[in-house]
Amino acid sequence: MKTPIKIDELIEVVRKGGVVQTGVDVYNKRGILLIEKDVSIRSVNILLTLKQNGLFDVPIDYKKAGGMWDRNGLLVETRKRASDQVRTNKETALSELKKKVEEVMELKAEAKALHQRAKENIKKVIKEIKRSGGKFDQNIIEGIVDELFIFLTRKGNAFSYLTKEIFTYDEFLYNHSVNVCTLGTAVLLRFCEEFGEMINKQLNQLYRHDTRLSVSENMTSYILYYPEELKEISVGMFLHDIGKVLISEQVLNKKEKITNDELQLLNTHSYELGAKLLEKNGIYNAFISNVVKYHHSALYSAETKTYPTDRLPIEIPPYVKICKLADLYDSMTSKRSYKEAENPVTVVTEIFRKYAGKEDIVLQIILHAFVSIVGIYPSGSVVYLQNGQLAYVVDSVGPICIPITDRYGNAVSRPQDPFDISSIDEGNAGFKIDRRKTPLSPKETSDLLPDYLKAV
Ligand SMILES: [Fe+2]
Ligand SMILES: [Fe+2]
Repeated sequence: MKTPIKIDELIEVVRKGGVVQTGVDVYNKRGILLIEKDVSIRSVNILLTLKQNGLFDVPIDYKKAGGMWDRNGLLVETRKRASDQVRTNKETALSELKKKVEEVMELKAEAKALHQRAKENIKKVIKEIKRSGGKFDQNIIEGIVDELFIFLTRKGNAFSYLTKEIFTYDEFLYNHSVNVCTLGTAVLLRFCEEFGEMINKQLNQLYRHDTRLSVSENMTSYILYYPEELKEISVGMFLHDIGKVLISEQVLNKKEKITNDELQLLNTHSYELGAKLLEKNGIYNAFISNVVKYHHSALYSAETKTYPTDRLPIEIPPYVKICKLADLYDSMTSKRSYKEAENPVTVVTEIFRKYAGKEDIVLQIILHAFVSIVGIYPSGSVVYLQNGQLAYVVDSVGPICIPITDRYGNAVSRPQDPFDISSIDEGNAGFKIDRRKTPLSPKETSDLLPDYLKAV
């Protein structure tokens, strides 16, 4: 076990007549050997030179021949230091993780309140459309989207922490509008960032080789969408299924297999009914109408069950493609009258497999942004660990998990300490995710979840 010791401490030991031996070869960042593992350092000058050359911490391997000894040959608290250091590192990591979990819970509560407000407003809008035969107040929609958008840009992808309602499907359309808008917008923002960086890099390369231009490296700044356009796209995502308001509940929530005619009617919600509703309300914005009309279009040439078919996949704008992925993810992970909710872990993998490696390079960047926002193990999912325990994913980054059962699958009532899967060492491999086991369904997950994790 290598423990980094400040070089000043080593200097102090040697200055007082002691000896230092690292027990391991010490290299600098460029891979040049600075201290051999079995060399005993008795000269302060050697250490001072190393410090002057940027070496501030020296690894000492106490389990090998490493250590520090005083002028009488007594070990300078080395073994104690090593174990103390490990313990301190573990304690710091745990308190940071606990802080992160608290932050997630706070964000979750904030996001939940905002989600609820947005849902109530979309309910009002839908009621209004039904009452008036198609007219609605655009200001209400813009107000909601503004709030969601500001929250997303300030707090990152906070909505990803929200637990989904999996026992009811009555409010699907309301929840779905908010979910697609928030997830779609988060993916859109990430995509713009990644795409912009890529284009800027390419442009800078071109400028560098073009002697006719005198543009400095930092002068190119490509922006895919202006902020006001991003908001219009968010509005489009919020309204993407608005055409469904004109289809009867009977058809929308039918438990039995729907007939061909009903399927045809359902499909019109985008390119016909949705488009008509926008027109009726004087909305001619291309971003909004493209999302509404084309969010079920093919993303690659051989994709089936897509509509309408008047545009090639390459002609579908990136933000519409993003809306389609967000729509798919939310539909698959939601409970409907005719199906149970699917586990988010399985859904991400399915979506990734379906669209990865297709001909469209922009689609691949979108997919990358989508997976980096949702995560391979989305927040709120439950995974099996290699030691047989089940763990709840608090944050998809890491992922950070909290065990919810013992090794035999029995629920544990006492809150467990969180841990970060990405920093599990080989000695604790049992805490790694068992990828061979199929994750639980959201319903099974919910049955096992302790109250303190259900709370928000
Ligand atoms: Fe749709
Ligand atoms: Fe949808």
